[in-house]
Amino acid sequence: MKYARVIGTGSYLPDKILTNHDLERIVDTSDEWIRTRTGIAQRHIAADSEMASDLALNASREAIKAGGIDPREIELVIVATTTPDMIFPSTACILQDKLGIGDCAAFDVQAVCSGFIYALATADMFIRTGKCRTALVVGAEVYSRILDWSDRNTCVLFGDGAGAVLLRGDEQPGILSTHLHADGSQSKILSAPANICGGKVQGKPFVVMEGNTVFKFAVKVLEEVVHEALAENNLESSDIDWLIPHQANIRIIASTAKKLGISMDKVVATVDKHGNTSAASIPLAIDIAVRDGRIKSGQHVLLEGVGGGFTWGAALIRW
Ligand SMILES: CC(C)(COP(=O)(O)OP(=O)(O)OC[C@H]1O[C@@H](n2cnc3c(N)ncnc32)[C@H](O)[C@@H]1OP(=O)(O)O)[C@@H](O)C(=O)NCCC(=O)NCCS
Repeated sequence: MKYARVIGTGSYLPDKILTNHDLERIVDTSDEWIRTRTGIAQRHIAADSEMASDLALNASREAIKAGGIDPREIELVIVATTTPDMIFPSTACILQDKLGIGDCAAFDVQAVCSGFIYALATADMFIRTGKCRTALVVGAEVYSRILDWSDRNTCVLFGDGAGAVLLRGDEQPGILSTHLHADGSQSKILSAPANICGGKVQGKPFVVMEGNTVFKFAVKVLEEVVHEALAENNLESSDIDWLIPHQANIRIIASTAKKLGISMDKVVATVDKHGNTSAASIPLAIDIAVRDGRIKSGQHVLLEGVGGGFTWGAALIRW
């Protein structure tokens, strides 16, 4: 099997919507500030009873249904998440059980907002090397659990959700290439700096961020990695039908698109309605653009993401 093809997609958003106006009652902020700085108007928030695996389960069921397969055909489950159900077992193992898949490899990938690209690249390698034929790749986050709801610098930016893609080995492309990068020296500019020791939380288990530094770093590395993906496939940016970026901030998205000469009508943007759902944002955007008919068979779709670590990456797909 030369390539991994996407045969099904799915997504899930919790029922509860938190608007910018709702946030005005929680912290000293305004709808106008949030919209103009980030493009975000609202985000979804998981119910207390909902864990990352529950969001992942709903998204996965949709992807499996769209792919028209029996879940027991899945040989690999990878969940990208920064907000797992528990320390262990992995959210992927919990998801595998909830789906009733039975024995297959299952593990989590932790690359924060680049997590879905990392997970997709990993599954692509499994399929290309013949190690498995059918893989479920999920991004699922309950970021609302690791936000300090008194910190306006961060709590207005994130939301909860999940997205899933089902991959199957095929002679036809498929994922054309994936590109992964990390620079651990930048770990402090975006982190949730806490751990568990002796049953107690050590440190601050909430997202902290140097917003401006993150912004500049993101714009720089996304442009680089997108050029890397295009060059490897001898393609120009004009060959790209859809750019699906990680949905952190509409200004980062627009800046990357502009540098590439890609007009915004070729960019799938969901940040206004979802906020930044970290590892879930790209598969959520993919599912929405597949289901509303924008993404069509044979088109070139370019995914790119950046996040804590720092990590960043891209994937170029012929749909
Ligand atoms: C966070 C971010 C939106 C801030 O936008 P910005 O244009 O850099 O904001 P500025 O630095 O010009 O303004 C900051 C001011 O707004 C204030 N501010 C911060 N959050 C605010 C909020 N929610 N509402 C109102 N004011 C806010 C700050 O306190 C600061 O005020 P001060 O100048 O009096 O100290 C922007 O830096 C960003 O998007 N960074 C990247 C974040 C990201 O995408 N992270 C995830 C990557 S995966």
